Amino acid sequence: MKPLKLTMSAFGPYAGFQTLDFTELRERNIFLIHGPTGSGKTTILDGICFALYGDTSGAERSGRSMRSHHAGVEQMTEVTFEFALKEEQYRVHRKPEQERLKKSGTGTTVQMAEAILWKIDPSNTAEESLVETGWKNVTDAIEKLIGFKSSQFRQVIMLPQGQFRKLLMADSVERQDIMEKLFQTEMYRKIEELLKKSAKELRDSIKEMENQRNWNLKKVECETSAALCQMIDSDEAELIKLGESHKEKNDRVLAAQEALVAGKAGNEKLIELENSQKALKLLQDQKLSITKQEEVLKGARRAAALEEREKLTKQRSDDKIALEKKLAVCEKETEEAVRALEQAEKLLHKEQGQGEIREKAKAHLIQLESYRQKVASLEAVKQQVAEQRKLVKQLEDQKEKLLIELVKMEESLNKQKQNSDYMKEAAGKVPLLEAQYKEIEKKYSQKKQLEEIEKLAAVQQKDYIRCKEEFKGLDKKYLEHKNEWLRLQEAWNKGQASILAAHLRANEACPVCGSTHHPKLAEKMEGVPSEEQLKNSALDLEKLEVLREKSRQRLQQALIEVEKLENKRNLLRKELEDPSLGDAAYLEEVLTKRKEALEKVQKELENLAETDKLLQTLEENVKTKKAILEDLLQNLKLQSESLRSIEGVYQEREASIPEEIRSEEALEKELKKTKGFYDQLRLALEAAEKNYQDKATKLAAIKASKESLEKSYEETVAKYTEEKRQFSEKMKQEGFQKYADYIEAKKSEIQQQQIEEEIKQYNSRLGAAEERFARAVKAAERITTVDLEQLQQALIAAQKEKDNALTLENNLRKKIENDRKAMEEIRSLESTIQAKEESYKVVGYLSQVSNGENIHGLTLQRFVLGALLDDITIAATERLKRMSKGRYHLQRTLDRSRKNAAGGLELEVFDTYTGIERPVTTLSGGESFLASLSLALGLADVVQSYSGGISLDTIFVDEGFGTLDPESLDFALKALIDLQQGGRLVGIISHVPELRERIDARLEVSVGEKGSFASFKIS
Ligand SMILES: Nc1ncnc2c1ncn2[C@@H]1O[C@H](COP(=O)(O)OP(=O)(O)O)[C@@H](O)[C@H]1O
Ligand SMILES: [Mg+2]
Repeated sequence: MKPLKLTMSAFGPYAGFQTLDFTELRERNIFLIHGPTGSGKTTILDGICFALYGDTSGAERSGRSMRSHHAGVEQMTEVTFEFALKEEQYRVHRKPEQERLKKSGTGTTVQMAEAILWKIDPSNTAEESLVETGWKNVTDAIEKLIGFKSSQFRQVIMLPQGQFRKLLMADSVERQDIMEKLFQTEMYRKIEELLKKSAKELRDSIKEMENQRNWNLKKVECETSAALCQMIDSDEAELIKLGESHKEKNDRVLAAQEALVAGKAGNEKLIELENSQKALKLLQDQKLSITKQEEVLKGARRAAALEEREKLTKQRSDDKIALEKKLAVCEKETEEAVRALEQAEKLLHKEQGQGEIREKAKAHLIQLESYRQKVASLEAVKQQVAEQRKLVKQLEDQKEKLLIELVKMEESLNKQKQNSDYMKEAAGKVPLLEAQYKEIEKKYSQKKQLEEIEKLAAVQQKDYIRCKEEFKGLDKKYLEHKNEWLRLQEAWNKGQASILAAHLRANEACPVCGSTHHPKLAEKMEGVPSEEQLKNSALDLEKLEVLREKSRQRLQQALIEVEKLENKRNLLRKELEDPSLGDAAYLEEVLTKRKEALEKVQKELENLAETDKLLQTLEENVKTKKAILEDLLQNLKLQSESLRSIEGVYQEREASIPEEIRSEEALEKELKKTKGFYDQLRLALEAAEKNYQDKATKLAAIKASKESLEKSYEETVAKYTEEKRQFSEKMKQEGFQKYADYIEAKKSEIQQQQIEEEIKQYNSRLGAAEERFARAVKAAERITTVDLEQLQQALIAAQKEKDNALTLENNLRKKIENDRKAMEEIRSLESTIQAKEESYKVVGYLSQVSNGENIHGLTLQRFVLGALLDDITIAATERLKRMSKGRYHLQRTLDRSRKNAAGGLELEVFDTYTGIERPVTTLSGGESFLASLSLALGLADVVQSYSGGISLDTIFVDEGFGTLDPESLDFALKALIDLQQGGRLVGIISHVPELRERIDARLEVSVGEKGSFASFKIS
């Protein structure tokens, strides 16, 4: 892997975008990443590792924590890394999970982790084809491409700060761990474990089978399988003997059975003879009783001839008895009917005795009925009275209301009247008030005027004074200017002579005097004004004069005005001499008050007409109300009279009705009560009468039926006597002396049949018994009795013997069978055990050897690792020797005492100065750095040589040079430069300043407040 370009954004100390273009190095293969500690050198390695594997070079900083704390929310943390692998080029891009601004709206959202791997065209890096996406997928693809997992990458390509010394200083176990990962030697350990497991399984299974075999032998009670075999043979011979004996015993049993059967048959014949004899005797003994039964049957047949007649007589007798019973009942009923009639009669008498009360009740009822009409009309009048009362009450209420209203109206009428009077009085005062008001108004305006004039006078006075001053000024100016003009005039005049003199030439006539001779020429004068000056001055004077004149006119006018005002003022002052008048403000106040008062009165007067109109309406209203009241009173009187008359009627009607039934309700109640009472009495009488009638009828009926009963009884008795006599006679004819004889002889049809059947059966049984006996006699000829018990005992004994023999035979057979089965099982177990024992010889041995039970005490994996470590130490020693001026060799511990199962991977240095080896921990800081560097480089060599596909064309060493003295530093650098000459890109990270002088290609990292910044410096 060769780096081409790294771009980091918001990553660690790099707040913004940081791009590092490694192609700037061109052919240079060694460069220094330089800058103060904490400036962000290691972060560059982190960036590469993060882009490739999603973790950082030290694997201590997580991707998420790499987000720069200097970066703003809008800047996303992301890393893109381009690198070359043999002929190919790739670009990998990663973004860790982070918060980002929402694309629309405000706030943030979580940006999920993102990773993409492209393949790029080396001739045109913009040309790319997607290889893989997804965090884990990209990591897997990178691992496949580069050939290293991230931990391995860090161990051989990026030697991280403070960590690569781990490999040197690690103990056996740790080193095994590192190397296991690097060389993937877990396979060997798996082999070890597999062998161990198989050996154990084999051993266990052999043990188990042996147990089974022993158990089988124990079961058949043999020591060995040979003994078992012998036992089976002898048992088989014994079995044949037992079979013969069994057969013989069986024959004996059969004979005994036959004897027993024959004996049993003979004995049975004898018994039959005896039994049949007994049976015959028994029947013969019954002969007498059968003869008797024949007699009974004959008697019964005779009695049967009498039966019809007897039935008739019996029927008659029954009828007679029934009639007697009915007669007795009838007698009783008659008695009861007589008693009931008596009672009914008594009751009837009692009810009839109530006649007077009943009549009274009836009369009362009729009377009450007669009140119905009256009460109804009373109710009607009562209604009228109530209505009339209500009407009168209403009228009276109206009257009260009207009276109250009237009082109120009259009150307001009076008020209005007072109001009107007061207004009329006020109207009289108005002219006076107006006159007073006008007077004051005049004074006020004069006062105002005076004030005005006084103000104006002051102004005019000032104006006058000003005009006066102005005139004075102008006058003075004018006089001064006039003097000046006069002076100029004089000077000009004087100067004219010298001017003329200047123009005079000898022999030329003087323009003034005409003399051609000029003896005394006027001297030339200074300050002579020009003609123009003089003219101007005259013009100014003229102007001043005009101004002065105008001012004088103004002054005069002002004076006139002042005087005019003076006069006016004096006049007004005289007019307003009265001191009680006060000043204008006071007057104004008085005036406003007066005006308000006047206006108020005027306004009120305006309302006067309205008030009068209202008054009139009110008066009319009062009049109307009074008229209504009058009508009402009239009506009230009328209605009261009518009420009184209706009340009179009511009282009259009321008096004619008893007090307790004056209402319809009370009357109806009384009526109901009385009617109930009357009805009760009436109904009771009716019931008593009916009852008496009923009872009498019933008695008559009973008496009639009794008579008819008595008659039929007499007839029945007569018939019965005759029939009884006839029966007696016939009975005697049939041979029965007494009735009792007949009764005894009489048998029912069924009884007769039974007797007949009995006789018949007896006869047939007797015949059969006689026959049976004859047969038995014949069969028992010449037969004697035998002892069956004895025969039975003999059979049982024979049977027992036979059973015993059979049991013995069966038991032995079963035993032989079991023994044979056990034998078979033992044989099969033994053959399996033998086979397993064979394979255990191999597997067990392999397991022992590979698991460290060998003379070196090394496991297989450790042996392999040891061999690898030997290769590494050889490669490392090559370099270390050079770096330490041939002093140190790196080697694997050869100390036998430490070669236990966990050992074998310890390192030590051989010091050629002392000729003795010692542990690597005894090296100084600088020495151990060199040793570590050698080891790392050696490791890289070995890794490359073992994993054919992997090319190690880059190496970064992060720090450690600070511990070296100048000489060692020199050696170390030489070693690295050697590497570079081998074509590898060597990146050295160091803050040590001396290195700057030695390496001319540098990546300088500087740090600012807003994050770090890096750039290549190549000289
Ligand atoms: N997420 C981060 N944001 C900003 N600064 C960070 C972040 N993580 C680490 N740093 C800082 O970045 C610097 C780490 O730089 P590093 O590359 O380890 O330094 P050196 O140059 O010594 O190798 C340290 O100063 C550390 O505090
Ligand atoms: Mg660092």
